[in-house]
Amino acid sequence: MKKILVYVTPDKRSSFFDIVVAYDSQFDVVVPYSLIDEDEVSDIIHNCVFTRHPKNLKNTAIFFGGDDPTASKKLFDAARTILEGLPEDSSVSICLEPKGASTTASACVGKIREALGGKLSGAKSLVLAGTGPVGQRIALLLAKEGSEVSISSRSKNRAASVCSRLSDEYGLEVDGVEISGEDSLAYALMECDVVVSCGSKGVRLLPKSVWSGNGSVKVFADVNAVPPYGIDGIQPYDDCVEREGRLFIGPLTIGSLKMKIHRSMVEKLFESNRQVFDIFEIYSLSE
Ligand SMILES: NC(=O)c1ccc[n+]([C@@H]2O[C@H](COP(=O)([O-])OP(=O)(O)OC[C@H]3O[C@@H](n4cnc5c(N)ncnc54)[C@H](OP(=O)(O)O)[C@@H]3O)[C@@H](O)[C@H]2O)c1
Repeated sequence: MKKILVYVTPDKRSSFFDIVVAYDSQFDVVVPYSLIDEDEVSDIIHNCVFTRHPKNLKNTAIFFGGDDPTASKKLFDAARTILEGLPEDSSVSICLEPKGASTTASACVGKIREALGGKLSGAKSLVLAGTGPVGQRIALLLAKEGSEVSISSRSKNRAASVCSRLSDEYGLEVDGVEISGEDSLAYALMECDVVVSCGSKGVRLLPKSVWSGNGSVKVFADVNAVPPYGIDGIQPYDDCVEREGRLFIGPLTIGSLKMKIHRSMVEKLFESNRQVFDIFEIYSLSE
């Protein structure tokens, strides 16, 4: 029985990365559907569940990808609702992984949890440039773990609109702060336990002069794998490396765990026909 992954995205282009990982995770065929809107989801679901005998449906799964997490989540939520209305054996597994963000965030927060000895609750966290897909998901996971989380942006309005969307979509509260220079950056870092750098590729967000002068931060993590890295002085393979009394987690250490989580999730999709992986289920794979 061939293992088939249906790759659904609201974007024009399917993600080459996600498709390669699917083939490398033992799917035989990947069927990309692009420019999909919510009205088309039920047809895709019905085509998946009614083409194979129920006992074979674990060999079909649907992956929701895309560059805009909110647009992809709308498709995923529509699929989940439709599947919940079908008989239990007439189902297929689904996952939501827009822009690689949930697996990256899960790896990053998993590593931070490890650095803090397993306890994130009560920690104060700052997600620098947390308005992108990866930063938003890191903020969600830290908040879910009981951390008090702020995300920063160059724009107060952008930070506020992301926080309000995360609250609407996931019911978790995150604060938004504007950072416009080294003074506001140093101020935002004050009393933080955890700082995660989540800016675009090759954007340095945190100079050493600022982090070195701060006494509270215990863990620095950076997901930007393209030099210059987001945090001055961090090394890509840092795996809880100590510098000046703080622990550093570099982007390639996070990237390597991210790949393990991504493959593990894709493989689990065909363990049964009723697997559902959104951000928190994906995060559980980091344990
Ligand atoms: N390590 C891994 O395995 C892995 C996997 C996937 C992605 N990544 C990396 O994770 C990072 C975040 O990904 P993403 O898709 O969430 O990023 P993104 O959307 O490209 O950017 C995140 C935020 O960076 C800020 N930003 C952009 N240009 C900037 C500039 N010139 N100066 C200061 N801030 C700037 C923006 O925030 P504001 O406009 O709100 O200020 C933006 O919302 C990227 O570096 C990506 O390459 C790593």
